[in-house]
Amino acid sequence: MSSKNMYLVTVPAGFEAEAKEEIKRLMPNAYARSMFFKGNILVECPRSVDLTSIAKTKETTYIGKIFPIDKIVKISKSRESIAYIHDEIVQLDKLQKGERFVVRCRRRGKHEFTSRDVERELGSMLEESCGALADLRDPQKIVIVQIFQNQALIGIAEASDIVEKKIKVFKKYKHGERPLTRAEHKIREAIKIFGLEIKRDFMVLDLGAAPGGWTKVLASLAGKVVAVDPADLDSSVESLPNVTHLKCKAEEIPKDIGRFDLIVNDMNLDPAKSAKIMVNLAGLLKKGAPALMTIKFVTRNRKKHIAEALEILKAEYKDFKVKRLPHNRYETTVFMRKA
Ligand SMILES: C[S@@+](CC[C@H](N)C(=O)[O-])C[C@H]1O[C@@H](n2cnc3c(N)ncnc32)[C@H](O)[C@@H]1O
Repeated sequence: MSSKNMYLVTVPAGFEAEAKEEIKRLMPNAYARSMFFKGNILVECPRSVDLTSIAKTKETTYIGKIFPIDKIVKISKSRESIAYIHDEIVQLDKLQKGERFVVRCRRRGKHEFTSRDVERELGSMLEESCGALADLRDPQKIVIVQIFQNQALIGIAEASDIVEKKIKVFKKYKHGERPLTRAEHKIREAIKIFGLEIKRDFMVLDLGAAPGGWTKVLASLAGKVVAVDPADLDSSVESLPNVTHLKCKAEEIPKDIGRFDLIVNDMNLDPAKSAKIMVNLAGLLKKGAPALMTIKFVTRNRKKHIAEALEILKAEYKDFKVKRLPHNRYETTVFMRKA
């Protein structure tokens, strides 16, 4: 068991920094770090301090649920992990014979089991091994299993020790503002970092364009932008005279829409799928012309996603440069040229 108190705190996604500051204000000697999956913070503090009781009495803005955690264990994606988690929980020795309990699992990542599988199977295993009684309605103890890909955060807490606070701030920006402004920064950064020259007569194909931050910036630099996305563009972008919105998937683009001087792709797709689309559409790009694609890290295995995407892209593109743009740990950006 850890020599410190540990907690998993859920916070609104995108507000991890603010939430960490809030936690530091509540408990100056706490150490708080963001988990890989947005909206989750792991807090460690000395045994003498108890975040649960502090948060119960203090006014907070960003804190949602607080789960006391006893241990972090490594698991695999296979179903055997459930038995392994069971053994680790038994070792905690916090669930006694005859106690009413419930297993609450939340799983993030890819596994060969669901959260429900964990709740059901772990529940029956613990009934058998500890002689405790599964009771969904009136449990005395909660068995906490919070899975983040290959890590399981486990804990056993009194039902009253699981705090759920009301989050007061969910959005940083007014409706429509946030994605546009942030995406605009992103494309400007990419243009600068890769030294991308966009000429006044350029025809640009923008894949995954909605709500239109990239399209807006590109339309201010190039001759024409064809923005492809099944979702709506912001009306301020849709109405630009040199923007055409193709309201369809990139896979459905007609082959005769023209020849382009630049293709950009910010589709939130699995990187391998996104790369295949880039290869299929390479015929629309002039020889030697540049292309940009963001590789979304849909799992923690960043290197694998980058390697897979580049391997596919090699069929039609060359001169690859891969850069992590500042402010985004969930993706990386690839610059390339049509071979
Ligand atoms: C991160 S957003 C793009 C933001 C955009 N670059 C901007 O500046 O506003 C990802 C977009 O990809 C789009 N998308 C996902 N799959 C797609 C596909 N197969 N074809 C076209 N667009 C797709 C989604 O609809 C979503 O609007």
